[in-house]
Amino acid sequence: MKTRKGIILAGGTATRLFPLTTAISKQLLPVYDKPMIYYPLSTLLLSGAREILIITTPRDVQSFKNLLGDGSDWGVRFEYKVQDKPRGLADAFIVGEEFIGNDDVVMILGDNMFYGQDFTVMLKRARDREDATIYGYLVKDVSSYGVVEMDSKGKAISIEEKPEHPKSNYAVPGLYFYPNDVVEIAKNVKPSPRGEIEITSVNMEYLKAGRLKVDKLGRGFQWFDTGNPSSLLDAGNFVKSVQERQGMYICSPEEIVYNYGWIDNAQMEKLVEKHSKVEYGDYLRSLLK
Ligand code: TTP
Repeated sequence: MKTRKGIILAGGTATRLFPLTTAISKQLLPVYDKPMIYYPLSTLLLSGAREILIITTPRDVQSFKNLLGDGSDWGVRFEYKVQDKPRGLADAFIVGEEFIGNDDVVMILGDNMFYGQDFTVMLKRARDREDATIYGYLVKDVSSYGVVEMDSKGKAISIEEKPEHPKSNYAVPGLYFYPNDVVEIAKNVKPSPRGEIEITSVNMEYLKAGRLKVDKLGRGFQWFDTGNPSSLLDAGNFVKSVQERQGMYICSPEEIVYNYGWIDNAQMEKLVEKHSKVEYGDYLRSLLK
């Protein structure tokens, strides 16, 4: 089993959500009953990452610290770093260089939400690989995404950023597993015409070296990028309907760390107490063994 450092990229300007985000980070907005960042955070926790760096803006860093603290309540460790300008997704590995140290890394975008059966198994498979892993998600109109084409074994053949004539219908969601050399690769990426250090350029380096795996997220799997008002509402409605129907919560970090044995009963009871006035607390209580 490999351990990987986790990074949540939660900066950006969120112009597609104005005026909602004029004064607050998008990743602090609600997706139904939880702050948006709980969802990508839960994915990193599920993958086994216990040391997580949250990259955000100078304006918002204190709010994230108020929300999440140092992680000790959840048996994990959070670090915070500021990205002074949204220089692009691959900038995460430059801002995060010191935090990453000699480890491999898993990075997720702060506005990406994943949910589906056997996801934990998939995450652990990617975690334990030597090669880089990205995901492919079937999308009808794929041309506004990074698009990946792969062979029958899941080896990437081509990747293109927002292609006019896509070679497949598989979009690349914002979840990436990389070996430690991603730091050096990111440092050598030249900014694109839009002035950003593109994650697609990083993926191209791994592709050229034959070190890029693509795992397909199959039928029935949910992936939301909650960066515009419509998808934000869709994601919230999805969470509400699944939770009410099944009684299982989507992306409760407390549930994950308790099930992984990272916190004990006494710590979980404290978290129950903190949420004693809301259904979330009832749910956490129901998990106590
Ligand atoms: P985007 O949705 O591409 O950018 P944005 O959040 O600034 O939104 P908009 O397009 O509406 O202006 O970013 C995806 C995620 O990555 C999001 O969680 C913000 C984060 N991000 C950074 O933290 N730093 C960056 O340099 C960029 C480009 C994005």
